[in-house]
Amino acid sequence: MTRPFRKRIARAADAKKSPIVLALDPPANRRNLSEFAAKTIRVVEQHICAVKMNFHIILPLSASEISQINKLLHSYGLQSIADIKLNDIENTNEVAVEHLTRMGFDALIANPFIGKGGLAAIAQKAHRSNVGVIALVYMSHPGAKEGFGLEVGGRGLYREFLDRAAHARADGVVVGAAQLDILTQMAKRLPVYSPGIGAQGGDATRAVSSGADYLIIGRSIVESKQPDKVAKEIQNKILSVRK
Ligand code: XMP
Repeated sequence: MTRPFRKRIARAADAKKSPIVLALDPPANRRNLSEFAAKTIRVVEQHICAVKMNFHIILPLSASEISQINKLLHSYGLQSIADIKLNDIENTNEVAVEHLTRMGFDALIANPFIGKGGLAAIAQKAHRSNVGVIALVYMSHPGAKEGFGLEVGGRGLYREFLDRAAHARADGVVVGAAQLDILTQMAKRLPVYSPGIGAQGGDATRAVSSGADYLIIGRSIVESKQPDKVAKEIQNKILSVRK
């Protein structure tokens, strides 16, 4: 039987010696997105363990084009994450999980705001197909404090979201890279995925030292003239703090 997502991505990170999850976000107005995706993946595959696809790719491409990208990722030993921040009623969430599973994604990102039961239902559905679920706990943008940082019952909403993620047996949580004190509070309860490096101001080594297990990085790599060189530099920086 295939390993669960949490183990698959840990193995990929070991094999590639990299905890980088590439956010495969093409620049605005970029054409030939399938070609862009394949070219970018081929150039950086040695320096990353997974790819995260967002609406930049998922909305304009067809299901079969996305499946092709996922096949290419798997051929390089990489995992694939759908970043749709799933956040709806149970029936709609189930349909979304089915489509993403059919397209070959290994995991999806969901929003615990829907409630304890709703998140657990997504995880149960996804796990039956061996697809992982990563729960938003504290987003990376400056406005995140207006939602994820709200105080509820004397504690930050993000602490409740972490509890919901643990209850749902989620495979990981997302915490922004600039939220260093919140990263430290995750205390290894679940694997932590951290976006917000570079373009959004976060620092890879500080995020890793504060407890991030995987770093989600997009524009700094994808929009650079030499994506492989930038990815390798970040990979080496991370390796140096992990020694
Ligand atoms: P950049 O270019 O800023 O790309 O390195 C980051 C990617 O990650 C997405 N993003 C998030 N996804 N929770 C998520 O699930 C977050 O807190 C978060 N912050 C950024 C962003 O849309 C882009 O794809």
